[in-house]
Amino acid sequence: MTRAKILVARAVFPETLAKLEQHFEVEANQSDADWGPAELAARLKDKSGAFTTGTERIDAALLAACPQLKICANMAVGYNNFDVDAMTARGVLATNAPDVLTETTADFGFALLMATARRICESEHSLRRGEWKKWRYDMFAGSDVHGSTMGIIGMGRIGQAIARRGALGFGMKVIYHNRSRLAPDLEARCGATYASKEELLRTADHVVLVVPYSAASHHTIGAAELALMKPTATLVNIARGGIVDDAALAQALKDKRIAAAGLDVFEGEPKVHPGLLEVPNVVLTPHIASATVPTRRAMADLAADNLIAYLTRGEALTPLNPSVIGASANP
Ligand code: GLV
Repeated sequence: MTRAKILVARAVFPETLAKLEQHFEVEANQSDADWGPAELAARLKDKSGAFTTGTERIDAALLAACPQLKICANMAVGYNNFDVDAMTARGVLATNAPDVLTETTADFGFALLMATARRICESEHSLRRGEWKKWRYDMFAGSDVHGSTMGIIGMGRIGQAIARRGALGFGMKVIYHNRSRLAPDLEARCGATYASKEELLRTADHVVLVVPYSAASHHTIGAAELALMKPTATLVNIARGGIVDDAALAQALKDKRIAAAGLDVFEGEPKVHPGLLEVPNVVLTPHIASATVPTRRAMADLAADNLIAYLTRGEALTPLNPSVIGASANP
């Protein structure tokens, strides 16, 4: 039997490639070359499957050029790089990598909150510059995390895991805003209370964004929302670039409209708004919230397992458009 051809669009663990090679004829990209949309489409033209990360855009134009494609498996929980409607219309299965990164990403969100509130990076940079000459009563005084109010926007699995950390570990009052309210027993388990977005922004000491990116969530936080926040508040974004208007945030940080921010994701990343690079009161990390070795391995495994399950057995572990299964227009 001939083996299906797949493309692994970015560099991955050698073990992931070896696993895929047991089932497929694999074209890999271990040099992690930057393929633009045209090169990606050209390489996918004769492939049945694609292993993608969150950076490859799978849209109607690419799908039209790749009539043999049956599945794109994202090694990410977010999938705003996929036009899922266009994929469904073409009978192409989309899968993502949920659950395996929930706790690791929540750990990171909490770490970013702590670093931001307690000015850890700002103080370390100052120390490295040789500025620490003597102790002072107000040196890098930040805001408390324990006992404060955390407002979480986006209460999916990761938001809930952050809420539990805050409520159970740090005695925080946790409020959240979400498209739909959680069931009362789930709210109780997370120690969280529902609030309107405006109430959350007005009352939270620390605002954490974990909402998926879509046209509806674009600029969830812009100048108007920043104006509602307490001047002592911090803002953490581990969701996606584009959820925050980075230009408005840079201005708000410069004007001390809010105290500080912690950002793992950026509009147009890997570019970072120059205004954010100029202000000291922001912690900046390069989209690493899920980056522990075991979790990245689990994410890669799940993407690989989706490809293997679908292309060898017609099944999928974490499908985003399950209606496609058994009804593929690209047989
Ligand atoms: C990372 O941002 C992911 O969506 O997994």
